[in-house]
Order: sequence, then C-alpha cells, then structure tokens
Amino acid sequence: MHDTKYRVAIIGCGRMGQNYAEAYTTYPDTEIVAIVDANAQRRDVLGARFDVAALYPDVETLLREVVPDVAVVVTPTKYMRDVVVACAEAGVKGISTEKPIAGCLQDADVMVETCAERGVVFAGGNLQRAMNEVQEAASRLHNGEFGHIRGASVHGFGGEISGGGCQHISVLRLFTNAEVAEIIAWGTPPEALEAETDEGLIINGRFLLTNGVECSVFGTPTPCRGVDVWTDECLVRWDWNPPEIFKGYDPHGNRIQINPNYSPYPWSEFGYLTGSIRSFLAAVDGNGHPWITGADLRQALEVAIAAKLSATRNGAPVKLPLEDRSLTLYPRPYRWIGGDATGRPQSVAEAKG
Ligand SMILES: NC(=O)c1ccc[n+]([C@@H]2O[C@H](COP(=O)([O-])OP(=O)(O)OC[C@H]3O[C@@H](n4cnc5c(N)ncnc54)[C@H](O)[C@@H]3O)[C@@H](O)[C@H]2O)c1
Repeated sequence: MHDTKYRVAIIGCGRMGQNYAEAYTTYPDTEIVAIVDANAQRRDVLGARFDVAALYPDVETLLREVVPDVAVVVTPTKYMRDVVVACAEAGVKGISTEKPIAGCLQDADVMVETCAERGVVFAGGNLQRAMNEVQEAASRLHNGEFGHIRGASVHGFGGEISGGGCQHISVLRLFTNAEVAEIIAWGTPPEALEAETDEGLIINGRFLLTNGVECSVFGTPTPCRGVDVWTDECLVRWDWNPPEIFKGYDPHGNRIQINPNYSPYPWSEFGYLTGSIRSFLAAVDGNGHPWITGADLRQALEVAIAAKLSATRNGAPVKLPLEDRSLTLYPRPYRWIGGDATGRPQSVAEAKG
C-alpha cells in the first residue's frame, strides 16, 4: 500500500521534465496526477510512459481542471514566470522551478514575492547545491568542524555564467553562509560582453561576501571547475561531485585528502535531484526549507547580471542587491525557448524512455 500524500503535476515534460517524472513516479508518497506540455505528440507519449491520463496543453487548462498539491515547472525559462504565478495564485502548495529562473530580475522578483505572499513553498531545481553530500559538507563547515573560513574561489562557469554559473554561485553562498555584496569583474570576448545572452561569456574577477570573505573568480577551469572554500587547516572542494575534503598537510606541504564518510541516502539513483525534490517535499510538509530555493536562483541571476555589469564598466565595483530590477541576462536559446523552438526537438523514440 502506498501512502500518497502529494498530487503532482509536471509542467513542461521535455528532457529535464522526464527526469523529474521518473523520480516522482518512484516515490511512495507522490503520484503524478497530470502532465502539461505544449507538444501534443510528446504529451501523448509521456501519458503512456508515466501512466498519466490527465494531459493538458497549457497551465491554464490544467488549473481549470485540477489544482495539484505540487507543481513541477520544467518549461523553458521564458515561460516560468507566468506558469509559477498562475500556480501560486490557484492555490498550489509547493512549486519547483528550474535553472536559470529568469532572464530579467523583475521576473524572478515576481515569482519569489508571489510565492512568499501566498505561503507557497518555492523550490529551485536540479542543482548540485541540493546534493546530499554538498549539504553535509556545508553543515560541517557551518558547525565549525573545519575551523574559520579564510577564503573562497570559483573556477569557471561552464561558459554560461547564468545558465551554468548558478550552480557555482549557489554552492558558494551555501558553503560560506553569506551573500555576494560587491563584484569587480572583467569579461571576454568583447562580442559576448555586448550580447544579450550569457553564451560564451568568460568572467574573471572578485566577489566580496557579506561575511568579509573574498572570493577569487576564475572564468575558466584552473583545472578545478567548481568552488573551493578553505580554512587554516582544511579545504572543501566542490567540483561537480560529492565534495572532496582535505585536512592538514604532509611533510612536503601538500594538502592531505581525507575520507568524508558521507551518509548513505535513499533514491541516490537520481543523484542530486533526490536532495532537491525530497527537501522540497519536506518543506511542503512544514519541515525546513528546500535545499535549493527559487530565491537562491534569483540571487544567482543577480550575481551573474552584476558581474557582467562590472565587466562592461571596466571592472567598476558593483554593489548588490542591484537597484535596477529591469536588468536582464538571457540564457542561451535552448534554455530560454527550448529544444522544439531551437531545432533540437526531442524525438518520440527518446521521449518514450
Ligand atoms: N538543472 C539542470 O541540470 C538542467 C539541465 C537541463 C535543462 N535545464 C533547464 O530545464 C528547462 C527545460 O529544459 P529541457 O532540456 O527539458 O528542454 P526541452 O526543450 O527538452 O523540454 C521543454 C519542454 O517544455 C515544453 N513546453 C514549452 N513551453 C511550454 C509551456 N509554455 N507550457 C508547457 N510546456 C511547455 C516543450 O514542449 C518541451 O517538451 C530549461 O530551463 C533548462 O535550462 C536544467
């Protein structure tokens, strides 16, 4: 017998949405009651694949028929604001979204504020910040096990400071338990600095955090590709895997890597999507906060926009929060408008799983 607690709608069920659907189909306490997708052919294939009869072409039609407990929004980024606001206004209890959350800061504000005003739990998405091991390493940093944080560094944003860099910025903020307060940055190539999207934009610079920690920002891998945070004795290194922990030095002065002994957890087969979804559902149940929130994704967008702004001003310091909420930085077209609109549609065979 399954104890189904949450009636879930997946809204936008392309490549990423199907990963969510797999996970939500597996848990004993969730049931996918509806799938919303703009693509009629894919919708039908997914209905059969996930055994869901209620299939809708858009969120308005969904909400006229059924208000789910949980809305999992995995549309291309352009459509997220309207979908999130419609769900919040209809009385959905928990809404999750994906990265990047928006192109314009104002749109991110509207989503975060609408959810907050209505008491809706607003989660981020499939981000490494929500990986169980990343959360565990962060707790150990916060409880002082490794000593006082002395410095931090970010190593490359995967060539997309907003679309991919939100991973780095979210881990940095978590590990240091601080916000980015001021940015000085330089950017290349010149044509990427002039473009509206973050595609190919390489940002180097320095983030000053609210706790006084300075974070060096390397625009390309060093060869690390993630976030380092260090104390006098220890280094915690997130590099797209469970964080490595180094403690002390050998006689040659090299850092010594220790076994972090991370705890096992159920549904680890879904990787960091597990921490993202299970912490979200716990929050809908009144326990804690999602390990990646919509507000975290807004902060990441804001940092990316501020970094580009500083770079376009020849490294002038830019303070956060930004006053001008009309500022924008769009992700690459695939993220913004999706595979169907950019000539990379998911085939029927692929959607069948
Ligand atoms: N967290 C991650 O690691 C990660 C990885 C890939 C993509 N993403 C993000 O997930 C989002 C979706 O990416 P994807 O790779 O699944 O794209 P996709 O193009 O494969 O899928 C998008 C789906 O949304 C549907 N759709 C489009 N507009 C819609 C609307 N208004 N209402 C309902 N359905 C709509 C499309 O028909 C399609 O099936 C993007 O924001 C992307 O940046 C995140």
